[in-house]
Amino acid sequence: MGIFTRSAGGGFREAKGDLVLESVTKRFADFTAVDDLDLHVPRGSFFALLGPSGCGKTTTLRMVAGLEQPTSGRVLIGGTDLTGSRPYERPVNTVFQSYALFPHLSIRDNVAFGPKRRGQSDAVNLADDALELVQMSHLAGRRPAQLSGGQQQRVALARAIVNRPEVLLLDEPLGALDLKLRRQMQVELKRIQTEVGLTFIHVTHDQEEAMTMADTVAVMNGGHIEQMGAPEALYDLPGTAFVAGFVGQSNLVPATITGNDGDRLVADAAGTTVGVPRARAAQGEGSVLFGVRPEKVRIHRDRPGGAGNDVRATVTDVSFTGVATQYLVTVPSGGQWSVYEQNLDVEPQSIRPGDEVWLSWDPAHAFVVASEGLPEGAEGKAFIATAGTGT
Ligand SMILES: Nc1ncnc2c1ncn2[C@@H]1O[C@H](COP(=O)(O)OP(=O)(O)OP(=O)(O)O)[C@@H](O)[C@H]1O
Ligand SMILES: [Mg+2]
Repeated sequence: MGIFTRSAGGGFREAKGDLVLESVTKRFADFTAVDDLDLHVPRGSFFALLGPSGCGKTTTLRMVAGLEQPTSGRVLIGGTDLTGSRPYERPVNTVFQSYALFPHLSIRDNVAFGPKRRGQSDAVNLADDALELVQMSHLAGRRPAQLSGGQQQRVALARAIVNRPEVLLLDEPLGALDLKLRRQMQVELKRIQTEVGLTFIHVTHDQEEAMTMADTVAVMNGGHIEQMGAPEALYDLPGTAFVAGFVGQSNLVPATITGNDGDRLVADAAGTTVGVPRARAAQGEGSVLFGVRPEKVRIHRDRPGGAGNDVRATVTDVSFTGVATQYLVTVPSGGQWSVYEQNLDVEPQSIRPGDEVWLSWDPAHAFVVASEGLPEGAEGKAFIATAGTGT
C-alpha cells in the first residue's frame, strides 16, 4: 500500500534503527541549553519532547537534524554515529511550525520536490501517494497561498514523509493552528504515524498534545529530562514536583516522613497524618512534598468513616465546567487545593463557597516527590502545582 512498500527507484532506505542520544550537551558561550542528555527512542515510536519555553527542545531537535553540533556527546541512528555529519547526510526530515512551502510551485510539485531532486522517476506518483495519506489529493493542483493554515501544514507533512526519513522531527508543527484544527490534526498525525510506522519526534509545550499523541513522553526542564515514560505512567506517578505540575495539575503539600508501616510510608503533612505506598514515594525520608491529583480527591459534607486519608477544608470557590465541578478549598496549612468532581448526580451540587467540608482520597492515589521546585511563598503551605507555578 502506498509509498511505503513500493521499492521506489531504490531511493528509500528501510525505516530501521533506534535514535540514540548519548550524553549530549550543547553550550552557547557559557549557557548550557542541553545538559548531558541521554535518550533512546525505539524505531517506529511516537515520542514527545515536552517542556516549557527555553528548556532546550528545539536545540535537541536541531542536533538530531544536524543543524547544530553538540558541544559533547553523540547522536546515533540505527547504531550509526551521525555526530558531525551534515543535515542532508542524515535519514532525518524536519517539519517546523512555519511550513515554508515553495509559493510558486503547485502542492503536488511541492511534495514531489525531494524525490525529483534525487532523480526518482516516480516522484509524482510518490507525491500523490503522500498527498492521499494526508487527505490533500483534491487540492494537489493548487498553490500554497490558496490553502488554509491547516491544509498547508498537511502538505508540509506530506513533503517530509515522501522522503521516508527514518526519523521525522516535528517542532511545534501545530502551533499556528486554532484549537479545533489543532485537536483534529493531532488525531490525523497519530493516524499517519501509525500508518507509516516511522519514528516521530514531536516537540511541544502543550502537555495535552503530548499525552494524546505520544507513546512515550520525555518531560524536559532546564536542558535535562526530568522524567520519561508512557503518558498514563507520568500522569499517575510524577517523579518530581515539576512533572506533577507540568503534566496535569497536582495538589501538593510540604510534609515530613515520620515513619513506615509495612509497605506504607507515614508522613506529617502540615499537621495531618497521611500515608503513601512506599513504591509511590520518590524520596523515603526527610522533607518532601505529598501530592494527590484534583480528580482523585472527593469532597464530603460529613467526615467519611474510616478513610484515614482525609482533611477538613473550607470551600472558597465553586465553578461548574459542564462535565465536572471544580472546587477550590483552603486546607489546614492555610494553602489551597483543588478538587474536581464529575457531575454524576441529577441534583445540582449543593456545596457552596464558605462551606466546611471534608476531603478524602484513596492512599493508593497519593504520591511523594522531593521538595525542590517549591514556588515562592509556598513554604509550609499546601498549593496547587500547575504549569504556571514553580520555577
Ligand atoms: N544560537 C543560540 N545562541 C545562544 N543561545 C541559544 C541559541 N539557541 C538557543 N539558545 C538558548 O538555549 C535555550 C534553549 O532554546 P530552545 O530553542 O532549544 O528552547 P525551546 O525548548 O525550543 O523553547 P520554545 O518552546 O520557546 O521553542 C534558550 O534559553 C535559548 O535562548
Ligand atoms: Mg523551540
